[in-house]
Amino acid sequence: MMVEADQARKLIAAARSARERAYAPYSDFTVGAAVQCADGRIFAGCNVENASYGLTVCAERVALFAAIAAGCRAIDAIAIAGPGDEPLSPCGACRQVMLELAPSATVIMAGETVDRVRNVSELMPEAFGPGEVQERSGG
Ligand code: THU
Repeated sequence: MMVEADQARKLIAAARSARERAYAPYSDFTVGAAVQCADGRIFAGCNVENASYGLTVCAERVALFAAIAAGCRAIDAIAIAGPGDEPLSPCGACRQVMLELAPSATVIMAGETVDRVRNVSELMPEAFGPGEVQERSGG
């Protein structure tokens, strides 16, 4: 689902603001994300690390889970803001979660001067998703 330019700017601003709240004492790599729901609501998230490193959750999943927990089932877009000037590409785990929870979302990777915009399907070619489970379970 495409989003309007001013909506995209607002979403990127929400992601950048959430990035300031990142809990990243181990990597010092701070990330923010913001999810645009079809009903107009925006949910933000930041990465949350842990002394047991593997328990860390990325900003994208925190934002997506916040939206789902608030009852949002239709997600139009997700913006991601990370360190540096270049757009930050979401990790594989977050792409899989996007496929599950926001399959038709526009993913906006915010850069300092140029953003990178992709569909979830572009980020997840030949994916294993909900469809495979529905079609092939019980066999
Ligand atoms: N991280 C994110 O939050 N999102 C990404 O797209 C890439 C990585 C976090 C996880 C970890 O806290 C830190 O960045 C370094 O990997």
